[in-house]
Amino acid sequence: MTVAAAQEPLFSIYDQSSAPSIALLYIGVQASQDIAENSGGYSRTFMTGNRAKKPHFAIREATEADLPVLVEFLIKLALHVADSGPQKLKRKEYQRLMGVLRAALEDESKRLFVADSPEAGLVGMGYVYVYRSQGIWEQVDPEEYRTGVIDDVWVEPEYRGLGIFKALLKRLVAFAEAHHAHDLILEYSATNRQARAVWTRLGFKTTGVHAAARTSAVKAALE
Ligand SMILES: CC(C)(COP(=O)(O)OP(=O)(O)OC[C@H]1O[C@@H](n2cnc3c(N)ncnc32)[C@H](O)[C@@H]1OP(=O)(O)O)[C@@H](O)C(=O)NCCC(=O)NCCS
Repeated sequence: MTVAAAQEPLFSIYDQSSAPSIALLYIGVQASQDIAENSGGYSRTFMTGNRAKKPHFAIREATEADLPVLVEFLIKLALHVADSGPQKLKRKEYQRLMGVLRAALEDESKRLFVADSPEAGLVGMGYVYVYRSQGIWEQVDPEEYRTGVIDDVWVEPEYRGLGIFKALLKRLVAFAEAHHAHDLILEYSATNRQARAVWTRLGFKTTGVHAAARTSAVKAALE
């Protein structure tokens, strides 16, 4: 299948200065169905280090009121991927991100979910959109072949390892499945080992490589 076409992230988390190569992955629908089970509210008891934690959180669709926090999450995600310290975001860029998120709320093929804790407020987010697959041999059946793209997944550091991401993913998968997506694909930076570990555990396999180079470097290689 064609994975590179028609992808539409909320924003690009891949800073060119780190020139990453990005693994492209996909998961079969069978695995999707497994993840889609039990996609409602969520509450568990967990052990984190030496102390017991009992976070209560619900997974719900994002609303307009959530957008400022979601922009913060996107910024943290971008810094995490670039392995960079804090940077000042231009007002114009902030407004652009708000606009892109707002548009996602209004688009039927897209869904933003948040993990909301009564004690801590928003502690995580996840995004999915479904599009008609571009591969020509995938469109032989009467039913349109669609792909779900998962993107912009973030869980606040102090709430990681508690199952919040899995709870978010269940909702993302359920949405993709309800919109007849047969595959799920996603990208992560080749330097993001944690993402690789998590996605591999969840059944994703590398199916291609997204390569990046400086234009000047390619030009030099051609001389
Ligand atoms: C990746 C991330 C979203 C995971 O969120 P989380 O809430 O901690 O994940 P969960 O607790 O739901 O764990 C999901 C599964 O991955 C595993 N996992 C979680 N963190 C892991 C790690 N660092 N290494 C290996 N496996 C890990 C868990 O064991 C769990 O599998 P299991 O239930 O079968 O044991 C979170 O670490 C994060 O926000 N990272 C920074 C942003 C990022 O890299 N996003 C992904 C970009 S594509």
